[in-house]
Amino acid sequence: MTATICGTGSHIPSYTMDNHDIAKLVDTSDEWVRERTGIVRRHIIQKETTVSMAAEAGRKALKDAGISPEEVDLILVSTISSNLILPCAACEVQKELGAVNATCFDLSAACTGFVLAYNTAMAYITGGLCRTALIIGSESLSNLTNWKDRGTCILFGDGAGAAVLQAKTSPRGASQEEGEKLEAYLPVTHSDGSRGAALTCKSRHDFNGLTDENRQSNAETLLDASHYMQMDGQAVFKFAVKSVPEVIGEALRLNKLRASDISYYILHQANQRIVEAVAKRLGEPIEKFPMNLSEYGNTSSASIPILLDEMNREGRLKAGQKIVLAGFGAGLTWGAAIVPWCR
Ligand code: ACO
Repeated sequence: MTATICGTGSHIPSYTMDNHDIAKLVDTSDEWVRERTGIVRRHIIQKETTVSMAAEAGRKALKDAGISPEEVDLILVSTISSNLILPCAACEVQKELGAVNATCFDLSAACTGFVLAYNTAMAYITGGLCRTALIIGSESLSNLTNWKDRGTCILFGDGAGAAVLQAKTSPRGASQEEGEKLEAYLPVTHSDGSRGAALTCKSRHDFNGLTDENRQSNAETLLDASHYMQMDGQAVFKFAVKSVPEVIGEALRLNKLRASDISYYILHQANQRIVEAVAKRLGEPIEKFPMNLSEYGNTSSASIPILLDEMNREGRLKAGQKIVLAGFGAGLTWGAAIVPWCR
C-alpha cells in the first residue's frame, strides 16, 4: 500500500510589493535584492489570513482531485504564522470546507514543514490510519517580518499551497513493474536544535520582565525586534547549500535511486543562489530545479506546494515521473521526500 498525490491547489494574495517598494522602507535597492536572492516581488496579505488562504488552497486541491470534502479523513496545516492560536488552522479549514470526517491538526517546522506534512500523511495512510489526506502549507510571514530590518524584510512573502494524498493499492495480479510504480519511498529528515539561534522569532506572548503594570498596558507596545523574524543570513545560507544536497543524496541512496532517475527537484524557495548551489553540488542540470521565488519570495512552508501546484497546472508533471521535495529552515530542520507522480 502507498499513497499518491491526486490533486493540488494554491492561493496567492493579489497585492504585491516589489523591490522598489521595499527600497522606500529600508536602505536597499532592486539590484541588490535581485543579485543576492533572485527575488523581484512578493505577494502580501491584505484581507486574507493564514487560515483563509489555507482553506482556499485546500478547496482548489480537492476540486483538482475530484474528491468531496466528506471523503477527507486527515487535514494537516503546516504553518508558523497562523492568525489563530486556538483553534488550530486545520480545524478552521475543516469548518470552511465541510470536511466533517477529518481529523485535524497543525504542524510547525518552518520551511521544512510541508515535507514533514507529506511524510506524516504518508505514514498515516500506509499505516492504515486514514485513506485520504489534505496537506496544506500556509503562511502570512508579512506579520512576522520586521519591516525595518533590511537583512530579512526583502526575503519573505505570503501564500498557501495544498495537495491531496490518497491511498493506492496494487490491483490483484499486478505485474512486478506495476507494483514497483506503487512503491512507497522512504524520506530522510533531520533536526539540529543546537543550531536554532540562526533563525528565531519569539512568541508575542513571551515578554521578558513583564510587570503587573505593563501586563495591563497594550501588549503590542512591548514588542521588540525579537518578536519578529531574526536571522543569521550567512549561517542559514551555508547550512542550506551543504545540508540540502546531502539529504537529497541520502534519500536517493536509501531508495536505491540515482539523481538521473529524478525528473524535478522542488526545493524550498528561499534564494536562487541556494537552488543553483544545490544543483551544482548534485551535478544535475538547473532545468530540473524549477523556481518561482522571483514572484513570491520565501513563503516558508507554502513555497513547495505553491510551486508543485503551478507545475501541475502547467502540465509539466507526467505520470511515471519521480520528484524530490526538499525543505530546510528554522530549527534547524531539513529533509527530502521522493514523490512518484501518478496522475
Ligand atoms: N540591501 C543592501 N545591503 C544589504 C541588505 C539589503 N537588503 N541586507 C544586508 N546588506 C548589507 C549588509 O549590511 C552587509 O554590509 P557590510 O558588508 O557593509 O556589513 C552586506 O550587505 C553583506 O551582507 P551579508 O549578510 O553578508 O549578505 P549576503 O550576501 O549573505 O546576503 C542574504 C544576505 C540574502 C540574507 C543571504 O545571506 C541569504 O539569502 N541567506 C539565506 C537566507 C535564507 O534562505 N533564509 C531562509 C531559510 S529558512 C526560512 O525560510 C524561514
